[in-house]
Amino acid sequence: MNSEKIEIFDTTLRDGEQVPGCKLNTEQKLTIAERLDALGIDIIEAGFPISSPGDFESVSEISKLVKNATVCGLTRANKKDIDVAAEALQFAKKPRIHTGIGTSDSHIRYKFNSNREDIIERAAEAVKYAKTYVEDVEFYAEDAGRTDNEYLAQVCEAVIKAGATVLNIPDTTGYCLPEEYGEKIKYLKENVKGIEKAVLSCHCHNDLGLATANSIAGAINGARQIECTINGLGERAGNTALEEVVMILKQHKDLNLHTDVNSRMLNEMSLMVSDLMGMSVQPNKAIVGANAFAHSSGIHQDGVIKNRETYEIIDPAEVGVNASSIILTARSGRSALAYRFKHIGYEVTKNELDYLYQEFLKIADMKKEICNDDLSLIMTAFNRKIG
Ligand code: KIV
Ligand code: ZN
Repeated sequence: MNSEKIEIFDTTLRDGEQVPGCKLNTEQKLTIAERLDALGIDIIEAGFPISSPGDFESVSEISKLVKNATVCGLTRANKKDIDVAAEALQFAKKPRIHTGIGTSDSHIRYKFNSNREDIIERAAEAVKYAKTYVEDVEFYAEDAGRTDNEYLAQVCEAVIKAGATVLNIPDTTGYCLPEEYGEKIKYLKENVKGIEKAVLSCHCHNDLGLATANSIAGAINGARQIECTINGLGERAGNTALEEVVMILKQHKDLNLHTDVNSRMLNEMSLMVSDLMGMSVQPNKAIVGANAFAHSSGIHQDGVIKNRETYEIIDPAEVGVNASSIILTARSGRSALAYRFKHIGYEVTKNELDYLYQEFLKIADMKKEICNDDLSLIMTAFNRKIG
């Protein structure tokens, strides 16, 4: 069976930038957008043009710069927002307007003091209006995760009729379980009239740590676009992590889904975004964390030294990391110690290793990690002792 493509919609510069404490200037956004384009991203959400003059400028400059990807701007479901987004996107080779409105009962009641019928009308009106500017219009049903499926299907039908080319089904509050989110996508695929004219998109937040799992469940059930950010950045607990989606689909060929992202650039992208946003990446973060390919316990180290695949499912080179690392700690064993001695130029015999290992443990019990300088000191003391 032929593998189907999942379009990658990167929203690092819009939803990602909503992370508290982060502010990127236009120049920094251009640097990121240029690398995202080189990475093979299909759609770059460049910002929310009406939100500030700075965001307008960024979307406009990114539109001029990006060569391959579609450039997208966010709006609420009103004419003013859409006018401003269209103006900011006017230089894009492939512009997309991303408009939408809250569809859950709590959004309808508390945010809009409105009713379901009115929301459908406003949604369809916004899409129709955006279509007067661009062919490619994505509609988001904010809080779709907590919107009942029957009503959500009615909203989807109305916006497809109005011309929406992509239907974004956000789990805005990160509430859904993977089965539930997958079911929602399946329900829409099976019950929305005209669904074959639009692409279903997953946009999942990570409040329960399920954003990536939910997005993958959506793709398995028929979504063909995933919205995500580098390092999973975003409001509260963040968004689906782009690097995780790309590598899950790469590792699980059984899913018959793929992306066009060049995975060898993922580590570089992660470091650049972390640096520009001033947001460090947790060391145990999947794929791009500093410890993602580091082994510190003796049993694992012994296995990896014999064959990397014993404890690694991804070749680090595939994500742009030079090599796995063997970290020496008090939990390390003799084979890791011999490996690291060899690495710094010392071949040791089995008897020498027995002695050196005991000396190593004395220091390792006092330190978090043993570095090459410590090993050199252990070796110098040993050489002095044997004369
Ligand atoms: O999480 C969300 O619902 C969003 C929409 C504005 C697309 O970010
Ligand atoms: Zn979001």
